[in-house]
Amino acid sequence: MSALTTSQAWIALTAHYHHMQNYSMREAFANDPERFHKYSLHLNDILFDYSKNRINQHTLPLLIELANATELPAKIEAMFSGVKINTTEHRAVLHIALRNRGNRPIFIDGDDVMPEVNGVLAKMRAFTERVRSGAWKGYTGKPITDIVNIGIGGSSLGPKMVAAALAPYGKPGLNAHFVSNIDAGDLLSTLNVLSPETTLFIVASKSFGTQEAMVNAKSARRWFLDKVNNDESAIAKHFVAISTNTKLVTEFGINTDNMFELWDWVGGRYSLWSAVGLSIALYAGMDHFENLLQGAYEADEHFRTQPFDQNIPVIMGLLGIWYNNFFGAQSYALLPYDYSMRYFSDYLQQGDMESNGKSIDLDGQKIDYDTGQIIWGQQGTNGQHAFYQLIHQGTKLVPCDFHCAATGFYNLQEHQDILVSNFLAQPEALMRGKTREEVINELSPKEREDDVLIASKIFDGNKPSNSFLYRKLTPKTLGSLLAFYEHKIFVQGAIWNINSFDQMGVELGKILAKAIQPELNTPDEIDSHDCSTNALINYCKALRQQN
Ligand code: F6P
Repeated sequence: MSALTTSQAWIALTAHYHHMQNYSMREAFANDPERFHKYSLHLNDILFDYSKNRINQHTLPLLIELANATELPAKIEAMFSGVKINTTEHRAVLHIALRNRGNRPIFIDGDDVMPEVNGVLAKMRAFTERVRSGAWKGYTGKPITDIVNIGIGGSSLGPKMVAAALAPYGKPGLNAHFVSNIDAGDLLSTLNVLSPETTLFIVASKSFGTQEAMVNAKSARRWFLDKVNNDESAIAKHFVAISTNTKLVTEFGINTDNMFELWDWVGGRYSLWSAVGLSIALYAGMDHFENLLQGAYEADEHFRTQPFDQNIPVIMGLLGIWYNNFFGAQSYALLPYDYSMRYFSDYLQQGDMESNGKSIDLDGQKIDYDTGQIIWGQQGTNGQHAFYQLIHQGTKLVPCDFHCAATGFYNLQEHQDILVSNFLAQPEALMRGKTREEVINELSPKEREDDVLIASKIFDGNKPSNSFLYRKLTPKTLGSLLAFYEHKIFVQGAIWNINSFDQMGVELGKILAKAIQPELNTPDEIDSHDCSTNALINYCKALRQQN
């Protein structure tokens, strides 16, 4: 038995969970008109309403005891002060330094990282202003109209999600594209609509060694050189790199003047705040990128300084633990009612699942409790017509986060009103459900004789959700929301006593695929794997022969 599950705090929560088995949120709301005020918080105009959870006055104090028992305060302090909390890779975890707009010195091994952070931001500003103003010209003297970010995982998902979310702030006539998949369809469908004269490629790879990023970058380079009669001097006007690895960037043929640096203490999935966000800064402008950083900074300060019962990401993390570890909820749905947030759950799948999908603790011991939840979701209202049925009436408990802006960017008020109404209606319906009496009241006399129909229309309700409501999805608001989720992941990893900052499971896949690739092109029958993998490889080779 682990120290976590035998701790007093855990045992108390287990007992509390049994006590809460028959707790009805609907009754709780009926009995307490103050429930919303008790269980909601603000940061600036962002309202975090967590009143529609299966919690009473004892739940949060018990969860906070667990947080304290697992030394969450000291762990937060360690991250913010540059301690090497990524213990397997011996690295600090300092995405918070990238948006440290207060410029508080943050030290690693005695050196303040802030001058370097600010230096790269200044370089990004100078570059983005030249590109956006048209001062930066392509090889035929034309300004840039298209930026193509080539990268995968954290070097793609964050910038892609933010660029889509900030589309209303995008510069007209400047398009952002994101190529990540090694499937040539991704690169070619992008290149097909581009002109080499006006395209800027950003090769984003922290390591500059990830196969997908490198092969896509090489193919893009080949495409470009073919169009410019192999004039290598044109590369400097059309390729820039974002990486920690100067040597590999130079070997690729990109001048280090056109390289934007990041550091090993920036985790890939936490890197959109670094130079990896260059595509965001180009597309939306550096001022908006810095507003994004400001929003994250304000959320960081909130996380660092607020008491736990007033602390939005701490409460998000604790509620996740409540459902994951005590109710046995296996997944968690992210449901933004905002088309521009359509990549939000993709982004947080990596953020959360690559961070907390772990099964050994910080001492290397196999753990005996559940860790990271399965993160999934879809923009509202699309999801309502796809999978909400299961959330409302299925057998699984799926806690949900709903997001919405009161005001949209578009001049179609009816659309925004319907969107917001649905955002408001779904959490209410999930919480209230529908009783037998309510169902019967809505049916015709004939239908009331149909017991199966009646049973099918009953909703148990009592389904938990959080709601985030804000004025408008500005860069600053988005920055705060994203930082909340990063810190939620941190809180959970800290309580589970795992390293949220390595990703050894992903490394294995990279190695295995590299071993198989040459086998696809040998004439021999393959027998070096298990019989299923051998058969699949050999069948694939046989199919290729038929082409
Ligand atoms: O998927 C594994 C991973 O290492 C991620 O953590 C990272 O975001 C991604 O690959 C890309 O890595 P890089 O930026 O080094 O190309």
